[in-house]
Amino acid sequence: WNYHVTHFVTSAPDIRHLPADNGIEVAFAGRSNAGKSSALNTLTNQKNLARTSKTPGRTQLINLFQVAEGARLVDLPGYGYAEVPEEMKLKWQRALGEYLQKRECLQGLVVLMDIRHPMKDLDQQMIEWAVQSQIPVLVLLTKADKLASGARKSQLNMVREASLAFMGDVQVEIFSSLKKIGVDKLRQKLDSWFSP
Ligand code: GTP
Ligand code: MG
Repeated sequence: WNYHVTHFVTSAPDIRHLPADNGIEVAFAGRSNAGKSSALNTLTNQKNLARTSKTPGRTQLINLFQVAEGARLVDLPGYGYAEVPEEMKLKWQRALGEYLQKRECLQGLVVLMDIRHPMKDLDQQMIEWAVQSQIPVLVLLTKADKLASGARKSQLNMVREASLAFMGDVQVEIFSSLKKIGVDKLRQKLDSWFSP
């Protein structure tokens, strides 16, 4: 698949406003500021396909991108953003759970975590929901450029170990949008999900 030709299709304010549930969808989820939008831009080799920001909570809409007819990438709003009122957080958490459990066209979930702060409660919840729905998961430990290679490896091993507890199809890789680390691994995984 050629990810460089990916283009924006539409934004939805919530899961009820997503387009028809057909084709294949792969979603990018993660805590606010984890680097979801940056990873999408790196994958597609486009600077401004998905909007990135230093301010957490930038992506507030569900953004859909089309790789090819019937093959979509979904940039989900980040969870866990401290500034958001508790009630809104819970609402969004429930909506995410519903999306992961009910969206038939969802064939893969990429969960992005800052390599320095991986596997927070909500990250684990996302993986749990995906595994329950038999959706394969790729965990990307983002901003790997922030750590020296020894620390990088030990974080990777630690998270790989922890991921075994989910008893599902969960692969863990290191990623950096800045240094273009792990982009091939991401591409390979997406290729396999888009061509069942
Ligand atoms: P929300 O949309 O708010 O949920 O955030 P997001 O997960 O989409 O994060 P985004 O891609 O906007 O990146 C957040 C910040 O992290 C930005 O300042 C990026 O420049 C920075 N960032 C993203 N990826 C990397 C990376 O690989 N290395 C480094 N050093 N910084 C990164
Ligand atoms: Mg974003």
